[in-house]
Amino acid sequence: MCGIVGILGKNEVSPLILESLKRLEYRGYDSAGIATVNLGKLDRRRSVGKLLNLSDHLVSNPLSGKSGIGHTRWATHGAPTIVNSHPHQSGTSVAVVHNGIIENFNDLKSKLIAKGANFESETDTEVIAHLVHKFLESGMHPTDAVKETLPLLQGAFALCFLFSGEPDLMIAARQGSPLAIGYGNDEMFIGSDAIALSPLTNKISYLEEGDCAVIQRHSVKIFDQSDNLVERKINKIKPDQTRSSKDGFKHFMLKEIFEQPEALSRVITKYISADGKSITIKCSEMDLDKIEKITMVACGTAYLACATAKYWFEKFARIPVEVDIASEFRYREPPLTKDTLAIFVSQSGETADTLAALRYAKIHAKKVISIVNVSESSIARESDLAIPILAGPEISVASTKGFTNQLAVLAILALKIAAEQNQLSSPQLQTYLANLRYLPSLQNDVLDASPKIEKISRKLSKITNMLFLGRGVMHPLALEGALKLKEISYIHAEGFASGELKHGPIALIDNKVPVVVIAPTNDLFEKTISNMHEVMARDGKVIFVTDREGSEVASKGSWEIIEMPKITHLFAPIVYAIPMQLLAYYTAVTKGTDVDQPRNLAKSVTVE
Ligand code: F6R
Repeated sequence: MCGIVGILGKNEVSPLILESLKRLEYRGYDSAGIATVNLGKLDRRRSVGKLLNLSDHLVSNPLSGKSGIGHTRWATHGAPTIVNSHPHQSGTSVAVVHNGIIENFNDLKSKLIAKGANFESETDTEVIAHLVHKFLESGMHPTDAVKETLPLLQGAFALCFLFSGEPDLMIAARQGSPLAIGYGNDEMFIGSDAIALSPLTNKISYLEEGDCAVIQRHSVKIFDQSDNLVERKINKIKPDQTRSSKDGFKHFMLKEIFEQPEALSRVITKYISADGKSITIKCSEMDLDKIEKITMVACGTAYLACATAKYWFEKFARIPVEVDIASEFRYREPPLTKDTLAIFVSQSGETADTLAALRYAKIHAKKVISIVNVSESSIARESDLAIPILAGPEISVASTKGFTNQLAVLAILALKIAAEQNQLSSPQLQTYLANLRYLPSLQNDVLDASPKIEKISRKLSKITNMLFLGRGVMHPLALEGALKLKEISYIHAEGFASGELKHGPIALIDNKVPVVVIAPTNDLFEKTISNMHEVMARDGKVIFVTDREGSEVASKGSWEIIEMPKITHLFAPIVYAIPMQLLAYYTAVTKGTDVDQPRNLAKSVTVE
């Protein structure tokens, strides 16, 4: 969360920083700010709310300077106000932007106040500016002042500093939160990710844990945790890492929903052989035949992808699977055995809790596989094997194509492990692979039904509560449907295993509560329909999501029906996810909420 940019440029940098911040706005949009060194002095502009406000502010109050740092904030300590906005300064000597949390800031702040420091904000970040300022005042060079400060800070951070009287100097540091350096011609850049820097340069290196980089227009010196001068590999960014446009869609979310058949086809083409007979994920060193247990860890929607995949791993490979929320897993210190495969799923590859959980598993599990969308992310780089989901950039905060492509990769991995463990014959494997290869066209069929879903959603905009029910492999999808709806429409929604209804949640049902029942005609259909009748008997308004056969036999009494193509096999969630996404999307649009940047949320959660 929070996006950081820094530029030592040849020309005025404010417009470039603003442009890069736009590409980082998915990380937070509570406030934004820029500081520059102009005629040797620090100057800054800050605005509350979205970047548009900062951009308007800069029109009436231009900010000059050829070196500068910028920030877009997702508030942690202190409300979104001007004084809490970054960059933070102490006196006129140093400005800093920060992504992360300084856990011992209260202690540091008390000590600084006791020595006479005046704080203007409630943020944890301001202590950093005061500490560096104090060391500068004692006569230290900026590099030494930063190096003295860093060991005093506990927590996670990515930092970028700018100093008065130093128009050719930026200092960046990373501990826990990602940071990339971009190399230009007579210019240098810093960014929270490659997306921010892609219009400026295609040459990127990533700072590693504990690194501190001293950056000038013609040189970069990187010091590791032990203060040794080190080199970090310079990578060329691929075009697919660059942020794309809405391509005529009203929102990124809608565009990304409609991209799913194409994104899914990429996974199928990449990981299933052209003859449809085998899986081409390269994992010979992973000893998949020797695994006896699987632990899967993730957050939010990615966690629900894991919860879905549990059914696949257990069904196909007959391996017991535990699924955990990363923020719980990391502090529980679960006993992992040396025959356990740990799988981490993260679209961004930067989620702080998932990364911390991965680091624990690296020590205790046999092997660590990550399933990521961003191949250069921290989670990918720290795994024994990273399998890209190939969804392309996902800009909307609510994950859509990321989720379905995570599911597809997990399904293929489950089949791969099952095959390695001799749990599947070749004909069985080929049947499952054929099922997967049909899915993009089935997704297209569902997208064709979006006008119907839009119509249903118009009836939902006034409701205050909604439930989602599913059984078996559709249970996690019920949770995902509820998560998506509350995330972008702010309607309270909960998902349940339909069999659990009568153990409590049924008390919520009345004629004001729409209940989405996800019920393909599979082996659990009859059971789910019994639960649906329990809802109808209590006047619940059922939105029945099923195929033609299901609708013919059981739709009587439903409030609405969303008809799906026939999919009886276990991969149905990869298609049934789409009506859940569209319901949430069109409901949010009808309510007029900010679909791509819903309140209080950010795309990349780099704080715990
Ligand atoms: C919901 C959503 C979040 C993310 C979660 C994990 O639509 O997008 O719940 O799934 O924050 O993010 P990643 O996958 O980047 O680790």
